[in-house]
Amino acid sequence: MIEVINVSKRYSSDEMVVKGVSFDVKPGTIYGLLGPNGAGKTTLMLMMATLLKPTEGQIRICGNDISVDTLEIHKKIGFLTTEVKLDPLSTPDKLYDFFASLYDLPKDGLEERKINAFNRFGITPFMNKRIVDLSTGMKQKISICISLIHDPPVIIFDEPTNGLDILTSKQVTDYLKDLAKEGRTIILSTHIFSLAESLCDEIGVLVDGNIVASGSVKDLCSLTGKDSFEDAFFDLYTKNHKEG
Ligand SMILES: Nc1ncnc2c1ncn2[C@@H]1O[C@H](COP(=O)(O)OP(=O)(O)OP(=O)(O)O)[C@@H](O)[C@H]1O
Ligand SMILES: [Mg+2]
Repeated sequence: MIEVINVSKRYSSDEMVVKGVSFDVKPGTIYGLLGPNGAGKTTLMLMMATLLKPTEGQIRICGNDISVDTLEIHKKIGFLTTEVKLDPLSTPDKLYDFFASLYDLPKDGLEERKINAFNRFGITPFMNKRIVDLSTGMKQKISICISLIHDPPVIIFDEPTNGLDILTSKQVTDYLKDLAKEGRTIILSTHIFSLAESLCDEIGVLVDGNIVASGSVKDLCSLTGKDSFEDAFFDLYTKNHKEG
């Protein structure tokens, strides 16, 4: 469903920050890109969402080459980035309606879908309040609802639990698990190994732009000979990270 084939990225004339990365994500699974700050997670996510062009390599989503079928890709993906800013003077209710019209969604059943989405995340009591007056967690949950407004089969979320407390974070991860159970294809990035461990079916460990190992938590523990995923991650990081 998502195929990343030998993808590299260089910004301006500097060195490659993503270096020949390849992986597949199958429907019904959650793939986690796990790596420290600066590893290249956001760069990879932006390329998958067609917002950055790979310097080398190819990305296919639902069989479509992202550099050819850009409009088709936009309909198929729900994309969330840490950079998204909601209009501070708007309200969740108005923003939802605005994005629904942007995607040209049928009006039939829209109100019901909005209320269902808002209820699931506890947004309903705040739906007519200004964004500027809402908490970080509430804004993130609204961004999530809006990024999935068109019911996409592929979900690309960059650090979806960024800035969220443990309760809100659990609401989001439970939702992602449900979406995977429905057969959607999910890729997320995180630097939090406990999140990758509890949520992802497969994890790609990204160090300095390279996927240095991938597999389930069990696979990565046995590959490194470690009992805990935390130790496995540190082992992979220290063996592959070059200082300077
Ligand atoms: N627009 C840009 N121009 C030049 N270099 C960039 C640009 N965006 C990112 N980089 C560099 O690319 C590398 C990867 O950055 P990226 O943002 O993809 O990492 P990340 O894994 O998402 O990190 P974080 O956990 O901090 O979000 C870093 O060295 C960063 O400085
Ligand atoms: Mg990032």
